[in-house]
Amino acid sequence: MTAAIAAHPRVRTEIESAVLAAYRASTPGSAARHAEARRVMPGGDTRTIAFHAPYPLYAVSGSGATIEDVDGNRYADYLNNYTSLIHGHAHPATVAAVAEQLPRGTVFATAIEAQTRLAGIMTERVASLDLLRFCNSGTEATMNAVRAARAFTGRDVIVKMEGGYHGSYDDFEVSVHPDVGAGLAGSAHAPLPVLGSRGVPANTVENVLVAPFNNVPAMERLLTERGEEVAAVIVEPVLGAAGMIPSEQEFLEALRVLTAERGIVLIFDEVMSFRLEPGGYQEHVRVRPDLTTFAKIIGGGFPIGAFGGREAIMALFDPSGPAPLSQSGTFNGNAVSMVAGVAAMAAYPAPEVARINALGDRLRAGLQAALDAAGVSGVATGYGSFVGVHLVPGPVRSYRDAARGDAAAKRLLHLALLAEGVFCAPRLMFCTSTAMDEATIDATIGAFGRVVGMALSP
Ligand SMILES: Cc1ncc(COP(=O)(O)O)c(C=O)c1O
Repeated sequence: MTAAIAAHPRVRTEIESAVLAAYRASTPGSAARHAEARRVMPGGDTRTIAFHAPYPLYAVSGSGATIEDVDGNRYADYLNNYTSLIHGHAHPATVAAVAEQLPRGTVFATAIEAQTRLAGIMTERVASLDLLRFCNSGTEATMNAVRAARAFTGRDVIVKMEGGYHGSYDDFEVSVHPDVGAGLAGSAHAPLPVLGSRGVPANTVENVLVAPFNNVPAMERLLTERGEEVAAVIVEPVLGAAGMIPSEQEFLEALRVLTAERGIVLIFDEVMSFRLEPGGYQEHVRVRPDLTTFAKIIGGGFPIGAFGGREAIMALFDPSGPAPLSQSGTFNGNAVSMVAGVAAMAAYPAPEVARINALGDRLRAGLQAALDAAGVSGVATGYGSFVGVHLVPGPVRSYRDAARGDAAAKRLLHLALLAEGVFCAPRLMFCTSTAMDEATIDATIGAFGRVVGMALSP
């Protein structure tokens, strides 16, 4: 049983009404701006994940670990633009680097040294990277990595994990949040690909196979049956959108062996997980993928994506070679993202990685203790600076384990946490930043304990 409120609908409705009323009372400025925005943008929104009912906060500024909304409310920011602001907001060294660049121009349609500098930082940190290229988002990074794998192997099919998120490109709008209760998504051991959005061509699922995360026998079976058609297996080393679920060492090791045996390109999508170790999560598990994708923190708060890996594959993009793969983008390698990225990465050496991972460990343990103290059946997952909260008994090792949880209760906790000055994802995802310290974490654990006690305690 997740929580007593599930068994007492009347009490739950009263709590929901009270939490909603408190949110509306403290955010009238955001409500007014949302009403204005609805006149010019569908639903007042331009980024689906940034919307939540009844309306999102309107932010005016951010500094370090804190953001402020139009009503003057201040929040500890555990979302950090969905893990991309490794130093929180307005990091001084990044601001200085961008301020120095702006009067010199922002983008040139020709090469600049800062591209080589940021590429050099990445190839130095990540052992599996011989070469890399930049783009403007994680979506573009995964799209290009898959294109490279298809070109390299001459095959079309890709394998992704159930619950894996790799951006908003059509091939990846498959089985991100499938409704596993309806019986249409296959079984836990043999999931079927499910289109996640209208508008994605129905035949997309012919080229996209889906596997359960952290399940070696299922992957063995799938690749034994279909491996010869498969160009790439793509995996997030820590499932992000599914709720900060780390991969198990044996799973990634098995992926490496199974793909190598069949000439399949193994892609680690480290768009989120790169921040977890100086050389990405692949350094932690000591598994070397063929290609890796990046974005988020490597742009220092500006739009960016990158993909890279083995020279033999990346050389396909060499424009001076025969029949090069095309990879264009008006803002690829733009000066602002490059200098911001160089500054942000320079301020994120191994000791800082370890420090904010320890803060994440402290947060995870504290949230778990708060759930336990309140008698709520729930699990705090994650690794290092990543924390997810699941309102299920656990263990949570896959998308399906997490999908059993009470999503409405999570949304309720999210709104209640905002009233406590804690800004996290509505799906209860948290990440730490270098702008935080133990006092920030402990205050948040206290707030979480109060909110869980009020809203979910049996
Ligand atoms: C693992 C992963 N891959 C790809 C993406 C897409 O990145 P972007 O939003 O920059 O397109 C995301 C975004 O959250 C992500 O978490």
